[in-house]
Amino acid sequence: MARITDRTVLIVGASSGIGAEVARRLAHGANRFVITARRASELAAVAQEIRAAGSACLDIPADARNTQAAADVVAAAVTEYGSVDIALLNAGQGPPMSLDRVSVADVARIMALNYDVVVNYLIPLIEQMRRQPDGGLIAHTNSLAGLMGIPRQGPYSAAKAAARTLIDAARVELAPQGIRFTSIHPGFVATERISGDGLPKPFQISQERAARYVVHALEKEPAQAYFPWPTAALVHTLRALPTPLSSLVLRKLAAR
Ligand SMILES: NC(=O)c1ccc[n+]([C@@H]2O[C@H](COP(=O)([O-])OP(=O)(O)OC[C@H]3O[C@@H](n4cnc5c(N)ncnc54)[C@H](OP(=O)(O)O)[C@@H]3O)[C@@H](O)[C@H]2O)c1
Repeated sequence: MARITDRTVLIVGASSGIGAEVARRLAHGANRFVITARRASELAAVAQEIRAAGSACLDIPADARNTQAAADVVAAAVTEYGSVDIALLNAGQGPPMSLDRVSVADVARIMALNYDVVVNYLIPLIEQMRRQPDGGLIAHTNSLAGLMGIPRQGPYSAAKAAARTLIDAARVELAPQGIRFTSIHPGFVATERISGDGLPKPFQISQERAARYVVHALEKEPAQAYFPWPTAALVHTLRALPTPLSSLVLRKLAAR
């Protein structure tokens, strides 16, 4: 049975993968959705599924890297439904990148795709939720890769780590105003976008299973959520090791 019901839910990055799957799962709860991503036709197809499952849905194609476009999406949600109760900031992308083969522009592009997209929604959402009597929940799809520098994912790891740190500060500062923050850290998830990237993917889980974990995090609102447990345990263990030792293990894992 759906636990999240009769809420206004904004999902940024809902045209495919984990975001689309979370929207499908929450659609049975008679919620009110605003979904956004860049690909209009994929987004419209997800909106159709949401409406067919019994929830209202506004789909707005927009690039989350654009500050004004993001502010306009938040404003449109408030105009349509009066509030944003839950926001899932899920837009992001981590193509493999070896640091001896990237340009400065490549790294900046990954920062925009994984960090700027968070900031552009975070600030207008805080502004809006501060005015709401019940505050609101802002959740971010981070990554276990955001907990340490993963080889061939360095710029992505760095961008996700920056987003986690920013959200950690926001959680402390804005608790008195009723705004809650959840950072969600998946391991490898078998979504279409990453299927051919050539990276090793130990303990990979399905998109459906990942969406179940994300919905659970939206229901329980932990400060940090990590899944699946084998990858989370591996990353936490590596973080606890002395750096020369964890570097050795990571080098071996990356060479597989
Ligand atoms: N798959 C994994 O193994 C994995 C593991 C850990 C964390 N994650 C994180 O999970 C999140 C979802 O990824 P996914 O694997 O489900 O891949 P995905 O299918 O590519 O989902 C990414 C979503 O974000 C949207 N998006 C990307 N850039 C955007 C932008 N500039 N503006 C607006 N929307 C944008 C995409 O839609 P458009 O292209 O239509 O804009 C899509 O809806 C990402 O933040 C990713 O970093 C994934």
